[in-house]
Amino acid sequence: MKTKILVTGGAGYIGSHTCIALHEAGYDIVVYDNLSNSNREAINRVSILIGQPIEFIEGDIRDTELLREVFALHKFFGVIHFAGLKAVGESVSKPLLYYNNNVSGTITLLEVMAEYSVKNIVFSSSATVYGDPESLPIDERSKRSCTNPYGQSKLAVEHILEDLAASDDSWNLIALRYFNPVGAHPSGQIGEDPNDIPNNLMPYISQVAVDKLEKLSIFGNDYSTVDGTGVRDFIHVTDLAQGHVAAFDYLEKQSRLNESGTTQQYSVGFLPINLGTGKGTSVLELVCAFSDVSGQAIPYQFTDRRAGDIASCYASVDKAKMLLGWQAELSITDMCQDTWRWQSMYPNGYDVS
Ligand code: NAD
Ligand code: UD1
Repeated sequence: MKTKILVTGGAGYIGSHTCIALHEAGYDIVVYDNLSNSNREAINRVSILIGQPIEFIEGDIRDTELLREVFALHKFFGVIHFAGLKAVGESVSKPLLYYNNNVSGTITLLEVMAEYSVKNIVFSSSATVYGDPESLPIDERSKRSCTNPYGQSKLAVEHILEDLAASDDSWNLIALRYFNPVGAHPSGQIGEDPNDIPNNLMPYISQVAVDKLEKLSIFGNDYSTVDGTGVRDFIHVTDLAQGHVAAFDYLEKQSRLNESGTTQQYSVGFLPINLGTGKGTSVLELVCAFSDVSGQAIPYQFTDRRAGDIASCYASVDKAKMLLGWQAELSITDMCQDTWRWQSMYPNGYDVS
């Protein structure tokens, strides 16, 4: 029988790509999403890409009763927990919404998991938990600190998972700290579909390339980096999706070893792992790469630094490689090519009306 995974937030950007990767790796999936920041069409497209319907439940992770029904109906091995709100600026103006959705929502989910003895979870954390790093590349033991409610909500969930692991060693809790996910599925059928004017760099660049936006503002050219612009660790979303498969393969392997009785009972506990490429790319380098790949000019202007931004951020990826046997494979060119394919095929994202 296939191993079954509940994917919260599976209709979203990273979730939809991960559903494909999980299916291809032989997992059975059930998607649970309230569609607050996604479109049912993403699930339809994923179903077409994998050639079979996806079991989809429209629901909120704060809805205890609905979650109980879902856990009673399915025998899950574990949960991949993408569901959450992610706009840093909005989190500053609506902190209660962010803490309620991201922190209370996760507590509700964990309570129901405990009721049904489902104790394997992979949580979507973020490099944002490292704040302004003291040294680069950033490894998982680096100090954590956050300045905005979105980041605080991720950090709070990490603390909850750590406390849970300390209280009961039957929990296996992996926090994947994503660096900067970009790109789209190579088919061009699914990708990132921001509701509003994008806050993040890659969707902004691609909307300029497709003439939806006039020009890019580059926030600061006086950082002490290769060309004065910010440096980030951009990672292709399909590589990220494979990282989730590797994390679940790891959890499954641990549980099989435990069941066979050949090893001493082993608990994963709380395990934070960076998912990045380990390479930094500057804002200007990304703009040039996108322009080359798309053949479009990307007009830009330099403006002031954005409050809360840091100069450079890239991951140490040794832990993912050592424990999960995973590493990112795709280049900046691949990231730009696939983003451009999705953006030019669907300039209005999933809104095809
Ligand atoms: P996304 O907004 O595209 O996906 C999140 C999904 O969760 C959406 O489909 C949304 O409808 C759903 N959702 C939100 N609140 C919910 C709730 N209460 N109940 C049920 N469903 C709910 O975002 P994404 O980019 O795919 O990110 C996925 C996760 O990864 C998020 O937790 C995000 O914070 C985290 N993350 C994202 C990035 C990034 O750059 N995209 C970086 C680091 C971490
Ligand atoms: C941002 C969030 C972070 C979140 C991550 C992924 C902030 C302060 N941080 O990270 O919490 O986890 O997104 O969702 O918002 N840039 C421009 N012009 C633009 C947009 C961005 O120059 O229009 C620059 C930024 O200054 C930065 C780089 O591009 O140097 C990357 O920005 P962005 O894509 O927003 O990601 P982060 O700031 O790394």
